Amino acid sequence: MATVRLDQKSRALTRAIPNTFDRALANFFGTGPTDIELAKQQHRAYRQAMLDEGIEVTVLPSDAKHPDCTFVEDQAVVIDGHVLLPVPGHPSRVNEQPPIAEFITRQLSGTKICRMHGDARMDGGDILRLGDLFFVGRSSRTNDAGIEELRDLLTHLGHKLRVIDIPDHALHLTSISSTPTDSVILAPEGFLPKDAFGELPDGCEVLWMPAEEVYGCNTIGLPNGKVLVAEGYPNVLQAVIDIGLEPIVLDMSQIREADGSLTCCSLFF
Ligand code: GLY
Repeated sequence: MATVRLDQKSRALTRAIPNTFDRALANFFGTGPTDIELAKQQHRAYRQAMLDEGIEVTVLPSDAKHPDCTFVEDQAVVIDGHVLLPVPGHPSRVNEQPPIAEFITRQLSGTKICRMHGDARMDGGDILRLGDLFFVGRSSRTNDAGIEELRDLLTHLGHKLRVIDIPDHALHLTSISSTPTDSVILAPEGFLPKDAFGELPDGCEVLWMPAEEVYGCNTIGLPNGKVLVAEGYPNVLQAVIDIGLEPIVLDMSQIREADGSLTCCSLFF
């Protein structure tokens, strides 16, 4: 989940892979999953990897009516214990939200839950957090009205927001970048201009990876110095080792076929 700092990652919500996963939207990294049992196995391994590192993991039941329901990151934005429920940017994904909203509302009872309205659209996968600096992708899923609603919340919390235009050949900002630590951004060459993230706070940097390792740029850093990385991206693997992290390598091949990355499958709260 891209909207929490490392020290805020103690509980993660996930949602099981539905039997209809082969019908998930797939227009970028994949052409659609072909082996649902393998996808389920990969998702179990993903959950187990987080459990093994001390993260409390909840699994919501899948919803066969919503083939993309596993990608919970898009359905709620949790920032410093505050929650923004976006209107997801693809119509087929809007009704995935109620069970996630209900769970988060119960867990964070006492918290004010904001809901997007009107024409505002946003997928949580378009938000990236580097310490206390936030980036949002203006994408096929996230529009200017959605960005302004996010900005309102971040301003209220005292955080800054920078907008990044996502190229047509990418889905979300977090499809092409991640923050394995609170001071490092991983991003692929050729997808974003080199100044896309702007001037970063002291001690922060962008590590540019070869374009062909774009999928590998999505990682999940954990509070104990370990990092989840997708199998098959040697430059990304070396980069996280070089910054002192211990990688946990996961086979994400069938989840990638549905355009899903590591962060898409969890919502830290
Ligand atoms: N398949 C993930 C998405 O398109 O939202």
